[in-house]
Amino acid sequence: MAVIVPSILSADFTRLGAQVADVTAAGADRIQVDVMDGHFVPNISIGALGIKAVRQSTQLPIEAHLMITDPARYVDDFLRAGASLIIVHREVLEDPRPLLGYIRDRHALAGLAINPETPAEMLQPYLADADLFLVMTVHPGFGGQDLIPETLAKVRQVRGWLTERGLTRDVEVDGGIAADTAPQAQAAGANVFVAGSAVFGHADGPAAGLRHLRAALNNA
Ligand code: DX5
Repeated sequence: MAVIVPSILSADFTRLGAQVADVTAAGADRIQVDVMDGHFVPNISIGALGIKAVRQSTQLPIEAHLMITDPARYVDDFLRAGASLIIVHREVLEDPRPLLGYIRDRHALAGLAINPETPAEMLQPYLADADLFLVMTVHPGFGGQDLIPETLAKVRQVRGWLTERGLTRDVEVDGGIAADTAPQAQAAGANVFVAGSAVFGHADGPAAGLRHLRAALNNA
């Protein structure tokens, strides 16, 4: 079954707790917190304090997507704040194995992400070393962008390699995921769908946005 992960980047921060509670009640599978350092991406968002606030608003697992240049330095902070899945970017790690291992040794799940311009081959040597592979479907930094269709070929590649090797792993997509694009990503082999504006920006509220997305994935 499709795993749907609302990204709070597009939430109303004056009502963060209530909005997280809404999507929790509407059947979200976990919550994503986007951590940006203004260096790896041209935007600054939130850190451990944001994760802590979400932790107090839901029982769901929290994933921290670290769009930061030095993830190793901050992983402990995010784990302590309540994240149970930490996603780090391949682009900033010469060898991601030690950090992925460090995260897993702390009884958390580890994810490895690539940006749109990074080839899928950059993930290939590490397929056994992470629990999840995130193929960014937009250039990270901002919500509300259109999905870049070419990125779906990489989803297909990664899922193909995992299947060939008999590895059960999550393949996540993030960026421009909505009721019209999510089924395409699903057909390419993604099973985890991060959505910011499609959920929190929905005209009838976040719960309706989440249900709409779930229905699109179920009916595809
Ligand atoms: C992009 C972030 C995404 C973003 C997705 O930098 O990693 O999680 O919030 O937002 P939408 O769903 O609006 O593209």
